Amino acid sequence: MEAQELRDAYVNFFKSKGHAHIKSASLIPENDPTVLFTTAGMHPLVPYLLGEKHPAGTRLTDYQKCVRTGDIEDVGDASHLTFFEMLGNWSLGDYFKKESIAWSFELLRDVLHLTPDQLAVTAFAGDEDAPKDEETAQLWEAQGIAKDHIFFLPKEDNWWGPAGQTGPCGPDTEIFFIDKTKKPCGPECRPGCHCGYYTEIWNNVFMQYFKDKDGKFTPLKQKNVDTGMGLERALRVLCGTETVYETPLFTGIIGKIEELSGKKYADDMKAFRVVADHLRASTFLIADGVVPTKMGAGYILRRLIRRASRYMSSLGIEESGHMKDVAQVVIDEYSGAYPELKQNEQTILTTITEEEEKFHKNLRKGMRRFEEMIANNGDAKVLPGDKVFQLFDTFGFPIELTKELAEERGFQVDVDDFNGRFKQHQETSRMDTNQTFKGGLADHSEETTKLHTATHLLNAALRTLIDPDIRQKGSNITPERLRFDFNIDRKLTPEELASIEKYVNDAIKADIPVVCEEMTLEEARARNAIGVFDSKYGEKVKVYTMGDVSCEICGGPHVQHTGELQGFKIQKQENVAAGVKRIKAVVGKFD
Ligand code: ALA
Repeated sequence: MEAQELRDAYVNFFKSKGHAHIKSASLIPENDPTVLFTTAGMHPLVPYLLGEKHPAGTRLTDYQKCVRTGDIEDVGDASHLTFFEMLGNWSLGDYFKKESIAWSFELLRDVLHLTPDQLAVTAFAGDEDAPKDEETAQLWEAQGIAKDHIFFLPKEDNWWGPAGQTGPCGPDTEIFFIDKTKKPCGPECRPGCHCGYYTEIWNNVFMQYFKDKDGKFTPLKQKNVDTGMGLERALRVLCGTETVYETPLFTGIIGKIEELSGKKYADDMKAFRVVADHLRASTFLIADGVVPTKMGAGYILRRLIRRASRYMSSLGIEESGHMKDVAQVVIDEYSGAYPELKQNEQTILTTITEEEEKFHKNLRKGMRRFEEMIANNGDAKVLPGDKVFQLFDTFGFPIELTKELAEERGFQVDVDDFNGRFKQHQETSRMDTNQTFKGGLADHSEETTKLHTATHLLNAALRTLIDPDIRQKGSNITPERLRFDFNIDRKLTPEELASIEKYVNDAIKADIPVVCEEMTLEEARARNAIGVFDSKYGEKVKVYTMGDVSCEICGGPHVQHTGELQGFKIQKQENVAAGVKRIKAVVGKFD
């Protein structure tokens, strides 16, 4: 089965059950400062799971691109991926367990041709927060799943969410594929065991609780269903391959790496997988506006490109300039499902090539530092761990490379000391990432709502006063400030910044009503609304209008009147990348 067949089969099935097909959202969560990337299909839908009305209705389906980067160093094994796709269907206060389970089963049996004996399912065992989910078990039984294929599991296995510290969550039922060519690894083997007998392919969350910051669960206004089927894993099961890397999702990419390296995938599966996964993820991230930088999402992108580069070298692709050949395959093969790749083709190819070259330059500089280290090491034949770590940290030298170079000159490396430092470094970056996740999901506090509205006014000011071709390249809002990235090939002058500030403050003083309307994309276009226009024909969107100052397609939320912002102040202008500047600004009363 091809990937697109599975995407279509899934989405069309749920369309036949009254669901609207919505477009994949960006990998960069809008106005959610607590996470770096979109990590699940439900992530862009949080406001609607909490009760806000979705313009496309109460039944939705899609395939959503996602990135999870907690385990970058593990990529290369049989299962880890950074980028993946999630097929999903949602009920926003519409149907619940009965339909959800019946339709999941119908899709698995009639469309994907899996038999009940190839399936195992789980249900929540119950605890002080929510009762045992007998209903789910009975519904599965009614579909023909044998009792001994139904497992009751506790919260750590059978509860999903919240994605952050607070947010919508609930008990789930997970659906596993049973690999009949294998045997269970022992009497304790059950869904969730990693021996390979059971593979999780789908998760249906009965999202009916809200977890608050004190850890308390309260019932949600509406009962939702949130499901997610991992496209890669499902495809692996349907194609019967050993890992996701042998599915059609990777055939072209791996074929290109074979061509460039003159090696075969089977010769060095780890290196092939790292290059394939990391360049696929990088291609998608750049298309969504991420640029390689020292922090946050940009730093993750940099790490992905560098790690891919190292593994390309280990495959014998020594000279730079070939990453773009792999990215080109990703663009060509995935643009049907994700047209933004083709639209940003040049940016993707240029960004990846520039970063690759930068890294190669760093490697050359690192080589000089390495030679100095050898020369200054006196009679000692062991290179100390701190020096080796410096090579890794500053120049991106992997320990394997340093070891190899050292050995060529008759030196050893203090690997234990290096490993200690490396572990600590990993801990710190993991903590940084987790910190980002801990804050909870999209914050819709009063402050962030005001800043969100201010972002629209700032966007309008830039396009009106500076250049009508200015486009939003990124936005990030915390309760303290807004951050807005936009394209421009020069620095704005202090006078220009002052005029932008005045423009926004004038709009605030005018206390313009903020009007939200739902309309089709074509209607929004006719209104000259700014925003993303690559949604599907006929798809409904929300348009926020502030008099004749601003008209933008946006999910919201916003204040009712611009006067609520009180005042607007630009804090600073920063450089983000070639052709991209950033403005940080605050709202409130300023004297
Ligand atoms: N949100 C659920 C998941 O990510 C469906 O597994």
